[in-house]
Amino acid sequence: MTFLELAKDRYSVRSFKDTPIEEDKMKAILEAAKVAPTACNNQPQKIYVVRSEENRAKLAGVCRCTFDAPVILVVCYDKTRDWKNKRMPGYSSGETDAAIVCTHMMLEAWELGIGSCWVGMFNSDEVVETLGLPDNVCVSALLPMGYAKNDVEPLNLHSIYRADEDMVEYM
Ligand SMILES: Cc1cc2nc3c(=O)[nH]c(=O)nc-3n(C[C@H](O)[C@H](O)[C@H](O)COP(=O)(O)O)c2cc1C
Repeated sequence: MTFLELAKDRYSVRSFKDTPIEEDKMKAILEAAKVAPTACNNQPQKIYVVRSEENRAKLAGVCRCTFDAPVILVVCYDKTRDWKNKRMPGYSSGETDAAIVCTHMMLEAWELGIGSCWVGMFNSDEVVETLGLPDNVCVSALLPMGYAKNDVEPLNLHSIYRADEDMVEYM
């Protein structure tokens, strides 16, 4: 598959088999996180690989979109490491860096036959508290992942695109 074929093929998976993700595949997914570009190469990303029954239940208690996945990646950035833009006080790169990291992992997983769904519907402080994460991390996304159940199909939203001319303007 070309990159564009892979990007078009991927869709959000919200129903998973219990089958665990193999260690070598998990390593490849985390490798994709490592090589993601970050502002000034500060690499503020921190990823918690949540697999235990206990911690998955804790996450399910603060987010209704964990979908009973066998693995939930908690994609964070370290607030003390992200790049601070002096020309735009108040702006820092953490959310952007974490989003690129998350996208890399989502696409690498798909190439390996593993589905995931980007989840933003949670409160970072609640996730930090329930998992006992350090105060310096901010949770940017949850990425429940695993092998899709056999009957899973993309939702309608997957194939709704705005018109090219709305999205792009040549100047
Ligand atoms: C920043 C962000 C937050 C999202 N949050 C959620 C969420 O909380 N729950 C959910 O079911 N899907 C969530 N999604 C998935 C989107 O709904 C989905 O990507 C979009 O509808 C396009 O569908 P597709 O991924 O199947 O192509 C989120 C996606 C992004 C990029």
